Amino acid sequence: MIPLCVPEIRGNEWKYVKECLDSSFVSYVGQFVTRFENELAARVGTRHAVATVNGTAALHIALLVAGVEPDDEVLISTLTFVAPANAARYVSAWPVFIDADPTYWEMDPQKVADFLGQECESRGGKLYNRKTGRRVSAIVPVHVLGHPVDLDPILEVARKHELVVIEDATESIGATYKGRSVGHLADISCFSFNGNKLLTTGGGGMIATDNTTWAERATYLTTQAKDDPVEYIHGAVGFNYRLTNIQAAMGCAQLESLDEYIAAKRRIASTYASALSGIPGISVMQEAEWARSVFWMYTVLVDEAEFGIDSRALLRRFESDKIQTRPLWQPLHRSAPHRQSPAYRCEVADRLNRDALSLPCSVGLTEEKQARVIEVLIDAHTRRGSVPAERAAATS
Ligand SMILES: Cc1ncc(COP(=O)(O)O)c(C=O)c1O
Repeated sequence: MIPLCVPEIRGNEWKYVKECLDSSFVSYVGQFVTRFENELAARVGTRHAVATVNGTAALHIALLVAGVEPDDEVLISTLTFVAPANAARYVSAWPVFIDADPTYWEMDPQKVADFLGQECESRGGKLYNRKTGRRVSAIVPVHVLGHPVDLDPILEVARKHELVVIEDATESIGATYKGRSVGHLADISCFSFNGNKLLTTGGGGMIATDNTTWAERATYLTTQAKDDPVEYIHGAVGFNYRLTNIQAAMGCAQLESLDEYIAAKRRIASTYASALSGIPGISVMQEAEWARSVFWMYTVLVDEAEFGIDSRALLRRFESDKIQTRPLWQPLHRSAPHRQSPAYRCEVADRLNRDALSLPCSVGLTEEKQARVIEVLIDAHTRRGSVPAERAAATS
């Protein structure tokens, strides 16, 4: 089996986790939590970082500390994992889904500007969606698949309308936008260290920001809003959202390898790009000239008319060769829990969802295995609609 994307654990993970176990500080108190927070903040460039139990929790808390209120609207990319939309609902706000741009597949800055400029109106210093009457309070651009969003135009309109911008950088740690690290481009940002992410702690997340008040509030809310640790006095309804010391120990070790991991991802991307660019019907992943992508999840588009079969048939071809591939997410404006939320001109995301296929791209993917993936893809084009020999044999 060639898996899609598995973690790479080859550094000080065992050493640090053992230190942590030996110290008996296995829960969320311990030196590794603080160390991981400090080291991540230093890497991203923010003044503060607050570790959380996962990236979804980070988004939930970021929305709360940034002042998103019940019945507010929050602009979110429609083509992404469901977590940011769920987080908006956790605070009783409503996502407004924004389309992906056709080239880099990120939140379309022009459609953000059009929505705010044409569909909203300013009253009493606040911005309201004319159709729903709800206040628009924040934008959550998601740096999907390892590539940054074109954030400057989004920041420009956000500043004009005094909207908070929360970067969902969960898929793109280490990527840069115009030379600056994602996670330090807007007001507050979130990371995920889930098992399939470039840097993993098994499960985990982080909030990063320069805003000291927000960072302190995030620490407070993620630790059950405890006012007095001895007397168990709580000042708000808090959450048990802290990362454990064991997970943070792993995070410190993973962070030491991040640059090597990024180099490996970029090598894998470049090999796919040169091997697949000339194949009719295959569009390879693009990198904008203002971006340095980490190519977290290497994805191609399959044009059925030119390639001969569609992305799902190609997925099945790979499957029969024991190669794991995966389509991108169902656009969120179509998903059952979010269908009732507004969506603004989401025309591109559906096509991307239909055509996209992510290919194996683990940091540890060997040249031989990648060559096998490429060979199967080329063979699928050569044979177009024909049934693979082994499946034909199995069904005859
Ligand atoms: C864009 C995006 N946001 C948020 C998350 C949530 O992170 P977690 O799984 O750590 O809760 C993920 C991935 O898992 C993601 O891909």
